[in-house]
Amino acid sequence: MAGLAVAIEAEARRRLGADEADAFLARLEQLTFDILEPLEHVYGGRTDCGQLAADLVGDALEAAAARPPALRRLDRRREIDPAWFQRSRMIGYVCYADRFAGSLPGVGGHLDYLAELGVSYLHLMPLLRPRPGESDGDYAVEDYGAVDPRLGTMADLEDLAASLHERGIALCIDVVLNHTAAEHEWARKAAAGEPGYRDMYLIFGDRAEPDRYEASLPEVFPGAAPGNFTQVPGVGWVWTTFHDYQWDLNYANPAVLRAMLAVMLALANRGVDVLRLDAAPFLWKRQGTDCQNQPEAHSIVQALRALTRLAAPGLALKAEAIVGPEQLVQYLGAHDRYRPECDLAYDNQLMVMLWSALATRDVRLAEHALGRRRPAPAPAAWVSYVRCHDDIGWAVSDADAAAAGLDGAAHRRFLTEFYSRRFPGSFARGEVFGHNRATGDARISGSAAALCGVESALAAGDQDQLTAALRRLESLYAVAFSFGGIPLIYSGDELALGNDPRWDADPGHAHDNRWMHRPPMNWAAAARRADPGSVEGRAFAAMAGLARARRELLALRSGGHTQILPTGNRSVLAYRRVHPRSAPFLALTCFSDTGQSVDAGILDRAGMHEPRHVHSTAGQLTLTAGRIELEPWSFAWLAGR
Ligand code: GLC
Ligand code: GLC
Repeated sequence: MAGLAVAIEAEARRRLGADEADAFLARLEQLTFDILEPLEHVYGGRTDCGQLAADLVGDALEAAAARPPALRRLDRRREIDPAWFQRSRMIGYVCYADRFAGSLPGVGGHLDYLAELGVSYLHLMPLLRPRPGESDGDYAVEDYGAVDPRLGTMADLEDLAASLHERGIALCIDVVLNHTAAEHEWARKAAAGEPGYRDMYLIFGDRAEPDRYEASLPEVFPGAAPGNFTQVPGVGWVWTTFHDYQWDLNYANPAVLRAMLAVMLALANRGVDVLRLDAAPFLWKRQGTDCQNQPEAHSIVQALRALTRLAAPGLALKAEAIVGPEQLVQYLGAHDRYRPECDLAYDNQLMVMLWSALATRDVRLAEHALGRRRPAPAPAAWVSYVRCHDDIGWAVSDADAAAAGLDGAAHRRFLTEFYSRRFPGSFARGEVFGHNRATGDARISGSAAALCGVESALAAGDQDQLTAALRRLESLYAVAFSFGGIPLIYSGDELALGNDPRWDADPGHAHDNRWMHRPPMNWAAAARRADPGSVEGRAFAAMAGLARARRELLALRSGGHTQILPTGNRSVLAYRRVHPRSAPFLALTCFSDTGQSVDAGILDRAGMHEPRHVHSTAGQLTLTAGRIELEPWSFAWLAGR
């Protein structure tokens, strides 16, 4: 037995009993390197890493001892089947508990609705107690040990997790790692000068250091929260990447890592299956850089992953790393070698490429950018999404743009104009978010349906445009459902809900137009989902159809790989999915206002024997004279045998 395990063996047997201790120690042996290596990288030279590791392992043992029996059974199943989150039956849904159903018990009352959609993974937006008043959509947490009382209690969270598990639905919640609310106990104690707390944050006596950092730091919210530091009277200049009430934690202090590990383990023991690590790229600061994606930030997440695995092996971690294409796959552990990091990460690049292709009716940039990227490590999975609660930032690299014959800056500007009603003839109805006058950078808010043209078509009373818009929405989701990651339905998209016309009525939201695409669930609209003539009925049937088709397709489970196949038609995106356990799969998606066709030879190129149609926009596939015909804004899925 290796060092860490030997040291804790007797204690483990005492706390866990012979059988559980045996499993714990076996995991510890397997994870020792994954625990020690990242700790050495971050804290070597700063602190006694052997002692730190022993303390953290002790904390994990504590949590393992407190883990409820039902969750231990789940752990065991997931240790037998570590690919549990990679299955093609995984279909995600993300919503705010209050906006969806009033409260956590309210969510429990709508599980039939989610089951009707085929959902097996539910991400509830931040639900821990936020600071009062403005709270960045509750990403400013005052107490990680309590549920927001407006939503319910910890007992409600446990009950909900248990009801979800009974239905085979995994629960994902946010853990805001990078910062706490200024009202959090640690911040209050830091402000009061209590020893040991100031060093949990990044606080400077004057502007000298902050100015040096600012020289290379971008601004996340240039309008609402310019700069990255906030002067707090009697305290100093506090690092606040996001809003002035969100204080960045100092991960150079191992006490911060230890405290956050405890938060994560406690949530896991409530029955949470997936933790979304908010703002993961920002965890480590280095002068002269943009203070994102630093190697230490990755090591911190790797250490947290290994330590949570030790105590709660059924828990998965999901990175929220909305970063450039070159920085993304590392959050899944793809470094110089595979270093287990997050199990899941948002596929921000796919999302951006979809909106780019939709605006330009041209898939060449997507083909190039998606075709050249490094695959996700086999044990991990992307989360494939079309829209989320945040703005869309145009993560298009200049090199990718150039390879597709575009100028990066001009293309990003075009996308902003196209989606914010400035581009003549655009079907999209979004707004600019976070315009930075100094850099020209701008991002986009707006619901998926509004960006796809549903709102403009309804306003114009144009049925053909409405059909085109709904098909765009379905096609984007068809890619998310078939690209190999866990597809994530953003609440309301299954009903083609538009922008919230009253988004700025709440004074705490008025400065932040991301609220326009966070509409409260419209249950009256949802009630029309069975009516095939209604917008809601059309959208819902499309989404549920994608879910049904995906569940049966082994090729769509994560762990295989996605290969882009050029079609010779600049408006048709084609890719095949290959998984060692399945016959090949081919998806064709038409990004055009007019019908398009591709050479049927692509079926051979995709390695398909006896290809069969499995799903498509109109429920059929036309082959004429050796060409596959696609209707405007449509998709077709084929599978070999
Ligand atoms: C994440 C969230 C975003 C929030 C930020 C700060 O990026 O998705 O909504 O503003 O973190 O917590
Ligand atoms: C996150 C993302 C950024 C986004 C911001 C606010 O920090 O990295 O792209 O704009 O949250 O929504």
